[in-house]
Amino acid sequence: PMRTVDTDVLVVGAGPSGLTASALLAREGVDAITVNKYAGTAHTPRAHITNQRAMEVFRDLGIEERVRARALPGDHMGDNVWATSFAGRELARMKAWGAGIDRKADYEAASPCGMCNIGQHDLEPVLLDAARDFGADLRFGTELVDIRQDGDGVYATVRERAGGDTYAIRSKYVIGADGGRSTVASELGFGMDGEMGLGYAVNVWLEADLTKYRAHRPGALFFTIQPGRDFWLGAGTYITVKPWNEFVLIVMYDPAVEQIDLSEEAMLARARATIGDPSVEIRIKDISQWQMNRVVATEYRKGRAFLVGDAAHRHPPANGLGSNTSVQDSFNLAWKLALVLGGKAGEALLDSYHDERQPVGRQVVDRAWASVGPTAKIPAILGVRAGQGDEEGAAALDTFFSDTDEGRERRARLQEVLAENNYQFNAHGVELGQRYVSGAVVPDGTPAPPYTRDEQLHYHPTTYPGAYLPHAWVEHDHRRVSTLDVVGDGAFTVITGVGGEGWLLAAEKVAAEFGVTVVGRVVGSGLEYDDVYGDWARIREIDERGALLVRPDRHIAWRSMDRVADPVAALREAMRHVLAIE
Ligand code: FDA
Repeated sequence: PMRTVDTDVLVVGAGPSGLTASALLAREGVDAITVNKYAGTAHTPRAHITNQRAMEVFRDLGIEERVRARALPGDHMGDNVWATSFAGRELARMKAWGAGIDRKADYEAASPCGMCNIGQHDLEPVLLDAARDFGADLRFGTELVDIRQDGDGVYATVRERAGGDTYAIRSKYVIGADGGRSTVASELGFGMDGEMGLGYAVNVWLEADLTKYRAHRPGALFFTIQPGRDFWLGAGTYITVKPWNEFVLIVMYDPAVEQIDLSEEAMLARARATIGDPSVEIRIKDISQWQMNRVVATEYRKGRAFLVGDAAHRHPPANGLGSNTSVQDSFNLAWKLALVLGGKAGEALLDSYHDERQPVGRQVVDRAWASVGPTAKIPAILGVRAGQGDEEGAAALDTFFSDTDEGRERRARLQEVLAENNYQFNAHGVELGQRYVSGAVVPDGTPAPPYTRDEQLHYHPTTYPGAYLPHAWVEHDHRRVSTLDVVGDGAFTVITGVGGEGWLLAAEKVAAEFGVTVVGRVVGSGLEYDDVYGDWARIREIDERGALLVRPDRHIAWRSMDRVADPVAALREAMRHVLAIE
């Protein structure tokens, strides 16, 4: 008979989502095993745009600085350039990822963390170290080959790829973090909505010193546009991996129109044509293929199984939401599993994972596809079409820059389309604005605050239950700390202000009753967390004497607008609701 290993949670996959789950579960002391098919973490850069919410998860894990040390910093990410090649004619430029003067303050006001650009091959080892430091059991080179579940548990069979040893893992729950071809999703029959294989691309990871062409217009993305190639037959898009000598060249192709030659020679020719300077030496490190999908799981939970990351949502890289959303899925799920397994919360708390994250996945998939449209318009506005000859293309570009009515019109049209592209490159509301509606949030009877600016472009901070705790800088021990640092670390937090002592006593009492950690914090003028600028007062929406109950994932579970006669009863009721205790 096959040997069997028992654990509480099996995590399948150790990409950004699986490693985040692994680290968080280990920190909470949950007995878990993480298996990953390959011998190590990602060997190529892949996803790279890392947004503020993902950085905040890394901050909670204590690895923000380590991630940042390996990353291209935010101030090197901002110039999106479109040109015929690096050495060739520049066609368009726009500020991205909040780097524009009109958006900088929005991004800075929203979070203690800046965005950064870091390839998965650099990010994953940091997450892996964190998981190991917390004591996680990670088994690389171990592939899930079979899985089933019943009311009592999950039964998985895994195979060690090196020796071929096969054994069973029996667990109470499983997290499918096994990416776009998820075995967990297919074997356990998760419902999926959408289509796979809607676009095709090749990633060419290469070294080439492009300092001369990139340093004066620093950015994460450089799009080349050449005669005869429209968006879907892209000439090539460069992702910066290391400034300014390491890149990933993404070549899109349409199998219905052209066969792509994946040889190093062919890709070297593509790189030469899009760099446009024969004196630049190019060294190819890796060539890999991927495809664009438009799929979201219709259920994120099925019995004892949960999907996180690409297993649950598969979409193009537009908006850079792939790995970010994956990390945040796990941040939502881990604390809930820890509480349920610890006997502190009812099973129904786990339903809130689907209720909260599935709509986010749906939005991300739809947003990423909607963002492809405005980017795809750019070649045509410049006069570049599929199938056109070099001369015809060059003449069209001359017209674009000419003192003619057509040139004037096209240039004006380009500015309009670049503005539409803000929904991809400066969609701060999409990046940060998730508000949850679920059993793990207690509505306070007030209507949701209306958006005062475009809700996709702008993040609207609010303490409305279900929203993310707003960031404000406050002072503690002569140090500047974020309100986001006042919470987290796997615990619930009650935040109150001047006159809110009753809530602090209630937090202690309720923590003892429920056996969960509820930290009491005071934020306000002259308090332990001193609201020196009055920023918290402007943003908190509740009275100083009111209270917020903040979940471990920094979302607001419940709020009381003011002091109440019996804070213990009020907080107890809120906690019972959130923890799904009958
Ligand atoms: P991810 O796919 O990263 O990890 C899944 C893990 O599960 C893998 O380590 C795999 O080995 C493991 N696994 C799978 N099946 C298993 C099994 N049966 N048993 C055990 N382990 C198993 N996104 C973007 O925004 N910009 C980009 O440019 C790109 N480019 C890109 C290129 C390539 C080649 C790929 C594959 C993907 C991209 N992406 C991307 C997508 C991005 O990488 C993706 O959104 C995140 O990696 C998702 O993280 P996950 O952890 O969910 O899955």
